[in-house]
This record gives sequence, structure tokens and C-alpha cells, in this order.
Amino acid sequence: MPAEPARLTFPYPRGWYRIGDTAEFKNGELKTPRYFARHFRVHRNGAGELAAHGSDGITRPVLERGSRVLMYFDSMANEPTFTPSSTFASRFREWVDAGDLKWNVRSNIQEVSENSVDTAHFIFVHRYDVIPKIDGPHFDRHRMRVNLESYRKVLFVDTPVQIALEYEGLGLIVGTVHNRAVDLLVTYMPTPIDEERLELTMSLQFRRSSSRIKDAIIKALLPWEVARDFKHDIPIWENKKYHHRPVLCSADGPIVQLRRWAGQFYVNRS
Ligand SMILES: [Fe+2]
Repeated sequence: MPAEPARLTFPYPRGWYRIGDTAEFKNGELKTPRYFARHFRVHRNGAGELAAHGSDGITRPVLERGSRVLMYFDSMANEPTFTPSSTFASRFREWVDAGDLKWNVRSNIQEVSENSVDTAHFIFVHRYDVIPKIDGPHFDRHRMRVNLESYRKVLFVDTPVQIALEYEGLGLIVGTVHNRAVDLLVTYMPTPIDEERLELTMSLQFRRSSSRIKDAIIKALLPWEVARDFKHDIPIWENKKYHHRPVLCSADGPIVQLRRWAGQFYVNRS
């Protein structure tokens, strides 16, 4: 008899996932990233297109959005059921790039995607002043939108905060954060490395102001502030037990609705 697994493992949800950045995949060069517990041989053909040949013998579609290289993963190798929107990871002129943050976390993608609708944790984990008011989630096939409104300190300023999150599957999440200190565009791209680990890439951009000095200060402080805040989630994800039928109170937010929507991506689910 095989031993009981220590942690609950999930199948990989199908969808588009970041496997690198455009600049890493040069013409004629072979890259071999490892995600989903497989190696992928990724190279550009003469036409500049990318394809990913997996160590499981399956070739998977790859496309680029902005400066991101995205691969469609479905363990059954079915055709993509959606395409990421053209606005995903596009860079607008009014946004200043504040770089990427990256973490390697011992958790799974389902757990991490539930974080945004777990409204109570914003107070206890992220020191928001009040439990966010939540609008949504609103579902549209592979998309989910959720809006949150609360108060907190941002870059030393006490301010109301409005967060709008848009999921395209579980691998591509774009968030806009509006507050008195700065407007943010946060692109969040979790990719499973294997059943135990996730690579989380967060790209930070903020709205250009009329002051170059202010923008330079924000650019320097923002990654530090976001990383400091995000660090509080990581030990929780790494130690938390997943309950299929959680006992929830109203302040826990619409976790059950999110799970129902996410169910569409688990093609192998029994
Ligand atoms: Fe969180």
C-alpha cells in the first residue's frame, strides 16, 4: 500500500502560464525550463514563433503577450479553450515599470488563487484597517472579476484603497490598485513547478505622475513595500491545510463560488 501523502495534492488546472520572458528566448537558442514536473525544450523557429516540446512527448502552444512567454498547459494535451486577452501584460505609456518580483513557494495554485477573496485575511495578514467590501466575484467563462474596497497605509499614506482583479484562468491575474499615494498595475503570474512548488512572478507598474522625482522615489520603494507585504502570505500558504468543505463564516468571502468557477480548469477531476 502506498503511504498516505502528507499534503493534499491537486491536479494542474489547465490554462495559460508564464514560462519566461521574451528576452530569454533568443532565435536559434534552446531553453529547457522545468514546470509542471516536466522539462520543456523551447525554441524559436525561423518565423520567430515559439513551441514547447515536453518531456512527456507532448508539444504545447506558446504565445507572447507584452514581454511574457506564455504556455498553454493541459495534462490531457487538449487544445486551448481560451486565449489570453490582448491587453494582458501590455505596457501602456502612462505606466512606469517598477520591475518584477519573484518567489518560489511550497504551495499549490488553487490555494494561492483563493487568497484574493479571503476577505478576512486582509486585516490580520496585510494590516488593512477594515475587512474589504467585496463586489463579485463576477464570472464570464474562463474569466473572473472581483473588486475590493478598504483602507490601509500605502507608502506611508493612510488612504482608501480600491482593488480590481481580473483572472484569466488561474495563471494570469491582472490587478489595478487605486489609492491616494499611487495607482498600481500588478500582473500576477503563478506557474506550478511541480505538485509541491509554485513560481510566483509579480510585475509592478505604476501610473506616471507629473513629478519625475516622485516617480523615482516610488520606483525605488514600491518593490520593497510590495515584497514586505506579500511575505506575510507565504508562511500561511506553506503551512495551511486545504479543506474541501471548509467551515466558513461570512467574513471569509466567496471561496465556495471561486472553487466552483475554478472547477472548469480541472479537466481530470473525478
Ligand atoms: Fe494575501
